[in-house]
Amino acid sequence: MCGTETVIHGKSILLVSAGGIAACKVPDLIRRLREQGKAVRCILTEAGGRFVTPLTLAALSGAPVYQDLFSLKDETEMGHIRLAREADLVVVAPATADLLAKMAHGLADDLASTTLLATDRPILVAPAMNVQMWRHPATQANQAVLAARGVHCVGPACGALACGEEGEGRMAEVPDLLAAIDSLLAPCLSLAGRRALVTSGPTVEAIDPVRYIANRSSGRQGHAIAEALARRGARVTLVSGPTALPDPAGVHTVPVESARAMLAACEAALPVDVAVCAAAVADWRVEHASSHKLKKKAAPPVLSLVPNPDILATLSQPGPRRPALVVGFAAETESLIDNAHRKRLAKGCDWIVANDVSTDVFGGTTNTVHLITASGIAQWPTMTKIAVAEALAERIASALTETRPGEQTC
Ligand code: C5P
Repeated sequence: MCGTETVIHGKSILLVSAGGIAACKVPDLIRRLREQGKAVRCILTEAGGRFVTPLTLAALSGAPVYQDLFSLKDETEMGHIRLAREADLVVVAPATADLLAKMAHGLADDLASTTLLATDRPILVAPAMNVQMWRHPATQANQAVLAARGVHCVGPACGALACGEEGEGRMAEVPDLLAAIDSLLAPCLSLAGRRALVTSGPTVEAIDPVRYIANRSSGRQGHAIAEALARRGARVTLVSGPTALPDPAGVHTVPVESARAMLAACEAALPVDVAVCAAAVADWRVEHASSHKLKKKAAPPVLSLVPNPDILATLSQPGPRRPALVVGFAAETESLIDNAHRKRLAKGCDWIVANDVSTDVFGGTTNTVHLITASGIAQWPTMTKIAVAEALAERIASALTETRPGEQTC
């Protein structure tokens, strides 16, 4: 709906590639960027040059590839300050743990890190590394510092890693990189002036100070939706249960634990134009959580459970503070459409995004969803969670544009 193509055509990208096996995706990324009419200049770190050759990148980008901070030829032809300043966007792909650490700490000991320190352009990083390296508190802290400085991030995705391990650390796929690049080059501000509330992640319900009831939600889908809405100009409050994800850039994140705390944070964020409830809220909590650690005795304790407040249903209640559009999620393992239909009516929300979780959706990077509204069902193809978030944000922007103030969407 943004008509971004003409705006984006002719933009220039400075692509900084560090040393990781994900560098094998870089030639395809350059080819696709060039097909879109974008100019690409590449900086290759020394380690990056072990995975992909400068000749390949030069042939595909149609421009020299820069590698050496102290190269007289490179400095006279295109000094590193000019390289840093002439691009419309700097993309770091793959962004290794080492390069993220250098960026976070302001190190400048090679051409890549020096250029990244010298640039005043927006930066997008695409982390790629082993799962333990990504999860390491040092990397997470570096990533948080970069996000707080406004560095944008796409991925990493989850899956089989080149090192043979499984988990988070795969560089985002090329289509996701292209989408993230486009949304930064030509921000489509279709939600400018709008306020959005997104819930994400699991809730954690205490049994005692040590034990709790929780679920497998990673928060990936909700976080991606918050980011997609913010990229379109919305002022977004993300109320999230505990996740391993960094706070999305440009979003006000409110961390919570229990369903009751999530509801209170949501109510404090009102009024909003749209609320998207993607959190996996625990249906029940322990009626009387113990203030001390329960002792292990011969007979296990009997936990009496009481229902948690339904945040989606509460936000959907008619009234002056009801958002114009309320979107819920339905994770189902059987009779997906029927159950999702019933859920939409029972909760009083406008749309339900229904997903079949009988396959490995929790923690995964792709999602197959149906969008259920009062006017029908749309089946979406299997997409990455980032792509689902983008498509949903587009639909939300269209719906809010069509809605007159004070009127609910259908
Ligand atoms: O009832 P069920 O958990 O299947 O409904 C899923 C939808 O309702 C999701 O959008 C979820 O975020 C929301 N929900 C909620 N509060 C609850 C339970 C679910 O907001 N207590």
